[in-house]
Amino acid sequence: MCGIVGYIGTRDAYPVILKGLKRLEYRGYDSAGVALINGGLKVYKKKGRVADLEEILIGKAVSGHIGIGHTRWATHGEPSDRNAHPHVSNSGSFAMIHNGIIENYAQIKNELLKKGCTFKSDTDTEVLLNFIEDIKRNNEGTLEEALRYALKRITGAYCILLIDKDDPHTIIAARKGSPLVIGIGRHEHFLASDASPIVEYTKEVVYVNDYEIAIVRADELILKNLGNEKQTPFITKLDMELAAIEKGGYDHFMLKEIFEQPQTIYDCLRGRLDADKGTITMSGIQQYAEQIMHAPRIIMIACGTSWHAGLVAEYIFEELCRIPVEVEYASEFRYRHPVINKGDVIIAISQSGETADTLVAIETAKEQGAIILGVLNVVGSSIARVSHAGAYTHAGPEIGVASTKAFTAQLAVLTMIALKIAHQKKAIDEERYHVLCKELMAVPDKVAIVLEQNDNIKKLAEKYKDAYDFLYLGRGYNFPVALEGALKLKEISYIHAEGYPAAEMKHGPIALVDETLPVVFVATKDAYHQKIVSNMQEIKARKGKVISIITEGDEVSPALSDDVVIVPPADEIVAPMLSVIPLQLLAYYIGIAKGYDVDKPRNLAKSVTVE
Ligand code: F6R
Repeated sequence: MCGIVGYIGTRDAYPVILKGLKRLEYRGYDSAGVALINGGLKVYKKKGRVADLEEILIGKAVSGHIGIGHTRWATHGEPSDRNAHPHVSNSGSFAMIHNGIIENYAQIKNELLKKGCTFKSDTDTEVLLNFIEDIKRNNEGTLEEALRYALKRITGAYCILLIDKDDPHTIIAARKGSPLVIGIGRHEHFLASDASPIVEYTKEVVYVNDYEIAIVRADELILKNLGNEKQTPFITKLDMELAAIEKGGYDHFMLKEIFEQPQTIYDCLRGRLDADKGTITMSGIQQYAEQIMHAPRIIMIACGTSWHAGLVAEYIFEELCRIPVEVEYASEFRYRHPVINKGDVIIAISQSGETADTLVAIETAKEQGAIILGVLNVVGSSIARVSHAGAYTHAGPEIGVASTKAFTAQLAVLTMIALKIAHQKKAIDEERYHVLCKELMAVPDKVAIVLEQNDNIKKLAEKYKDAYDFLYLGRGYNFPVALEGALKLKEISYIHAEGYPAAEMKHGPIALVDETLPVVFVATKDAYHQKIVSNMQEIKARKGKVISIITEGDEVSPALSDDVVIVPPADEIVAPMLSVIPLQLLAYYIGIAKGYDVDKPRNLAKSVTVE
């Protein structure tokens, strides 16, 4: 949700910023811009991709050792050149970029308009910038003081970078609710929304906290709180390699990330699950094991794909641990005055760890006494810092906007947590526990086998790419997989798709079925297999096209299906990690067949740091 980059030091700032913006483009790609100081303030911005900005800058004077850059996901104001960041203040002295939303911008804008201030854009960012300039002018103070004062007046979320044309030695940054990482180099500093623009220059970083202001110079980094008290920067070593954020020979990040899954699931299990000994070591969870075992209720809070992982986990926890589970959309949970009881355990699931709704939902629940556990991919993210404990998914950076490897890693972590608690609680018998440990450990190899269906799925994509609608059906553990398959297709191919519990289809969606409707059945062998076969019959009887994801050895479903994708046999508890893979590939190849940019689907952004 907007990517920001800043550089100050001995290098030319522009190439560092440009490369950084390309790495952050997954956060938004409605427009891009840079501001540099070099004998004056130079601002260049353009609607569209970072590549469009790069093109208009060929041959322009883009030198300078200080600069800020932005890639936008539009909130206030349509995507356009004039709404692109950086914005410049009324006097022309200051330039600013912003990730977040200033909620009370309209009121501040009115105050400024009455004072004769003019605005070139429709953005909340320009309002905040002119507000800062107005305060500075009235109080005759420093830019830093004016910023501090302004931040106390505004509500909403922000990560901002601010530069002053008369001070080419300083970038001022501030954050609340939107992420900011500062990389520390020799006589240089790098600022960014995440570490990907920084990792090739330095591994020493500081994650700036909410309500902190950073005054950044080539040789100096000062952190202060809004009370103007100095804070000690906590330097962390980045655990990320450059290769992890490059395409590595694949055409798209999405395809690379789909194919990484045997490794990422293995990385997630490695060092935690010893299937031979039947042990699961997760220190963050162990610390709260008693509370989880005796929790009256577990509430999973998440959005999008992570919410689907929560739905699968609901089935797993209830079956194995016998603890009631609720799965909540973070955006609904946070506003509906939820009842939180003493002892309730909340599991926040998030790839980015920055999703605004999830973050605020758990902050609210924490204030009410809930225990918060995070199942997160990005180390050191905002949700990680609010959580009491948790377990990282270790899937590596996920750059494709559509989430793939994060989903299977979330399932692997959640299954381990459920198994660990069920075993400790003695809610599951020893034999089943050991079988499930082995089943889980076998998942990475089985995912590799599913990926061998790649060419088959590519052909299916060609065959079905012109459909207007898709229906995805599943039962039990595979019902959330059907939802996830439909979401992937919508995101990447812009084809309308609905996920439904297979049996519920009779209560409405069956009216949609005719010979033009592809219906994807997630029908791997499980306790309800006979039932879903009956549902296939019902679709076939109405001439729908049946594409089914089935288990090797299933002799019934192929006769009822127009097309099948076969996955290896697996216990129903781990089967979603296999059955989702063909659905990810199908969405990918349909998107490609339709000529879309699958890594940057329209209107989307990877990390939703606004409401
Ligand atoms: C779907 C997708 C989104 C995210 C959702 C939550 O492919 O990427 O639906 O799953 O925005 O994001 P995180 O997991 O970062 O909280």
